[in-house]
Amino acid sequence: MADEAVEAMMPFFKERFGNPSSIHRFGQQADAAIEEAREVIAEHLNCSVDEVIFTSGGTESDNLALRGVALAQRERSGKNHLLISPVEHHAVSHTAQQLASIFGFELEFLPVDGQGRVDPAEVLERLRPNTAVVSVIYANNEIGTINSISEIGKICREKGVPFHTDAVQATPYLSLDVEALSVDLLSLGAHKFYGPKGVGVLYVRKGTPILPIQTGGGQESGLRSGTQNVPYIVGMSAALKFVQTSQTKWNASLPTLRDWLIEQVEQKIPQSTLTGHRTQRLPNHASFVFEGVDSQKLLTLLDLDGFACSSGSACKTGNPSPSEVLLALGFPQKLALGSLRVTLGKDTTAEHVQLFFDCLVEKIKILRD
Ligand SMILES: Cc1ncc(COP(=O)(O)O)c(C=O)c1O
Repeated sequence: MADEAVEAMMPFFKERFGNPSSIHRFGQQADAAIEEAREVIAEHLNCSVDEVIFTSGGTESDNLALRGVALAQRERSGKNHLLISPVEHHAVSHTAQQLASIFGFELEFLPVDGQGRVDPAEVLERLRPNTAVVSVIYANNEIGTINSISEIGKICREKGVPFHTDAVQATPYLSLDVEALSVDLLSLGAHKFYGPKGVGVLYVRKGTPILPIQTGGGQESGLRSGTQNVPYIVGMSAALKFVQTSQTKWNASLPTLRDWLIEQVEQKIPQSTLTGHRTQRLPNHASFVFEGVDSQKLLTLLDLDGFACSSGSACKTGNPSPSEVLLALGFPQKLALGSLRVTLGKDTTAEHVQLFFDCLVEKIKILRD
């Protein structure tokens, strides 16, 4: 976590412990703190404060967006067609699958190219009068590929269909201006931008049909009942301020390190393939598949030397089935089992990347031998 985020949170565990829904001064102090945080986030998203809904993280934001809009659309106008990409995080895809299997929605997957990108023209072709919601991931967690969200957003806007994007991975590096992106719903998770785990945001454009999926005391404009997690919300907003001051620097420095690593792997490790788009990818993200390598074993060996990497989504740790994202890109099952995802962060140096590469070469040799 960013030091700024930790420091900002601390008083809200002790001296400023009030419940933001309470009338007394402790409650009002807490309420003022979350409203200040809401302003910081609204400014970053270029939206109004009442369009910012605090949640428990990216997963909940994705669930609220998909389930909340799908149910509202069906209730209000009988729409029951869902359109999503096949490279969504499980927080979106499993929600859509449940809406299909239990609630009777019709789920359609958009095609993607070999780099995991959705062609906006394919969205236009598949939109129907009864499409309830469209969801396309902004930047992919497994392969780093960035989608043309604003183009897809414009198409959905013209057709009057609510459009959601999962921007959980995009936050530290890409613009989240919801006007420029033409999105109606956008998910954030604080721990992907140096904030605490277990807190996030769903942006909901005014007028978007949406029902709460968690009912109760009516907090967060009735869309997400439950006493807000004040310290975490404050920490998230401090982390976003940290992103604002660092983004330009990261976007200038990280691609050089990323591209050096990709080049070295491609040149010096035989039977290795870059996954995802070469240029339209997150500046901190490099991902590969290695023939004849079991990614779970590779991760364990890398960890022994102090390198923390992942293969598919971290949420799937311990699950040896191949990544659905890589299968959707056309990688054969066997190759998809040899995937590696390397992400660089605010403290990564050129020396770290060199040490990592040397270690990777050695571990792959051991596993192949
Ligand atoms: C693209 C994407 N969406 C959603 C999530 C889930 O977010 P959270 O861990 O905050 O629930 C993640 C986390 O890995 C992610 O990478």
